[in-house]
Amino acid sequence: ALPRDLSGRRVVVSAGGTREALDPVRYLGNRSSGRQGYAIARVAAQRGAAVTLVAGHTADLADPAAVDVVRAGSAREMRDAMRAAAKGSDAVVMNAAVADFRPVALVDHKIKKGSGDPEPLALTVNPDILVELVQAREPGQIVAGFAAETGDATGDALHHGRAKLARKGCDLLIVNAVGDGKAFEVADNSGWLLGADGSETELGSGSKALLASYLWDAVAARL
Ligand code: C5P
Repeated sequence: ALPRDLSGRRVVVSAGGTREALDPVRYLGNRSSGRQGYAIARVAAQRGAAVTLVAGHTADLADPAAVDVVRAGSAREMRDAMRAAAKGSDAVVMNAAVADFRPVALVDHKIKKGSGDPEPLALTVNPDILVELVQAREPGQIVAGFAAETGDATGDALHHGRAKLARKGCDLLIVNAVGDGKAFEVADNSGWLLGADGSETELGSGSKALLASYLWDAVAARL
């Protein structure tokens, strides 16, 4: 059985990918399935936490038991949902794959092919939700993020992860190795858990539930 070490705690987890509308039928999106974030939410509930899961677009996943699920389609919707849910919570985990950019304007009709070359797609930068959550962090609140990096432990992945942890200002960063069929749309995950305190733990390869357990161990140790 899992420890009930998160009972009495409120936690918020984001999962899945955002979609940024271009016109009524098209969007910019990504291939996040949401499985890792759902596992993080499920394990937190099993360990006794009151959990809000802010879910973007995901594969066809069942809502985890005893978890409050809030839907967020776009990055800006997710930002609003996360900011609201983070208030008064003990830990916030940004696992969602947020689109870095969105179309400048939502066109109100289906964009036509036209006859010549396509118009360039004008994009603007989305808010960095993780950075905003760090800026709004309440005393004692733990904020965790994810980084999908190509490369291996001895090479770029850890190096980039360490730099990202510092840049984002979060307490914990899970670095997932991606590429070669790793992490996206598959059952298993592997990577490293980096702490703002300089700690560095290799997580090895295991189920997304196992990775979720490692994350909650690290959060519980800091609460
Ligand atoms: O900068 P990068 O996208 O690699 O950072 C990944 C981390 O930042 C993830 O935790 C992701 O959920 C979060 N993120 C965010 N808002 C964005 C982009 C990424 O919260 N606009």
